[in-house]
Amino acid sequence: MAEPIPIVKASGTLLRDADGHSYIDAISSWWVTLHGHAHPYIAQKIFEQASTLEQVIFAGFTHEPAIRLAERILEILPGQLSRVFYSDNGSTSTEVALKMSVQYWWNKGEGEKRNKILAFNNSYHGDTFGAMSVSDRSVFTMAFHDKLFEVIFLDAPESGSKTYDLPWDEIACFIYEPLVQGAGGMKMYNAGGLDQLIGLCQQHEVICIADEVMTGFGRTGKLFASAYLQHTPDIICLSKGLTGGTMPLSITACSAKVYEAFVQDDLLKTFFHGHSYTANPIACAAALASLDLLLKPECLHQIGNINRQHRSFMDKLQQSSHPVRNVRVLGTIIAFEIDRGKDEYLNNISTTITKKAMAQSVYLRPLGNTLYLMPPYCITEEELGKVYSVIMDILIELAG
Ligand SMILES: Cc1ncc(COP(=O)(O)O)c(C=O)c1O
Repeated sequence: MAEPIPIVKASGTLLRDADGHSYIDAISSWWVTLHGHAHPYIAQKIFEQASTLEQVIFAGFTHEPAIRLAERILEILPGQLSRVFYSDNGSTSTEVALKMSVQYWWNKGEGEKRNKILAFNNSYHGDTFGAMSVSDRSVFTMAFHDKLFEVIFLDAPESGSKTYDLPWDEIACFIYEPLVQGAGGMKMYNAGGLDQLIGLCQQHEVICIADEVMTGFGRTGKLFASAYLQHTPDIICLSKGLTGGTMPLSITACSAKVYEAFVQDDLLKTFFHGHSYTANPIACAAALASLDLLLKPECLHQIGNINRQHRSFMDKLQQSSHPVRNVRVLGTIIAFEIDRGKDEYLNNISTTITKKAMAQSVYLRPLGNTLYLMPPYCITEEELGKVYSVIMDILIELAG
């Protein structure tokens, strides 16, 4: 295992190490950085909030950044979501969504009957126990399989119409990464098929949870991947890009129908879930600042530019004789498999590629033999061109 490299500074797309080398961060530091590192506008808002109100218990108290953020997020989320629950990372946002869904049925007195959960094979929803349970059984979960709860796993759809034979009236909720399965290898799947499945679930009152921890905030070309679909979720999970990639924060937003199952005089029906840093004011201020930047026409324009550049690089790859397969693009994400060894996360071609790219000042971290890019939106045409050319050089070297 290589020693970790000390990073001492970052700005825009660049990470700088202690020896003065810099690297283009082509994967947004694990998909979080939206507008570039150390963005001065977000940094200023963080500073202002830190010197005004840095933290307060979020039980019996509230504060303006949390209220404003909830209002602004609800305005832009697809569908009819009307309430926001804060936690502090992607795994807790999905954990909260699962607990909300299970307790929704329990509060309605149907907890024993509606106790099954539906998820996709190859999915990833986080590293806590509930999130691991609804994720694919993989190298990430191997040591814990006998501790994970049972889930009905289906293949993500490959076409727009399919028949399902499921015990609908026993299913509490369905959780999915809309359109792209991130950690599962940036697998892009059929939007029509997902729409159909969500529609069927909703006909049977199954609570649909869109895990947009990765896809949220423009990554797929629209602000949220769920906006590509006609059937919108009952719950949506957000984190990663929520604060522009500066502070840990997450949101689990739900519909009025879900919320109302918890608002009762019976205290046992309370949603007993909270964290010390729930709705941290500095994180909320960072999220508000990131939203200001995201909703500017320049940012949406830049998302379109990245997509155009990716599509022309995709054409180039497809026309080349390089050993690559299944080149795909959605919004600001491009991914493909390298024909070397097995299609799996532990394929060590990943380490080789990271090393070769860093020697040319680009940071890539393939998922096994799946090479992908998900750059911050501030990346320039020249920087992205350089990333593509480094990838081409590596592919030539690998073929040689
Ligand atoms: C779709 C999805 N859900 C949940 C998570 C977990 O997020 P976190 O790493 O912030 O716990 C991730 C992380 O990669 C993710 O891609």
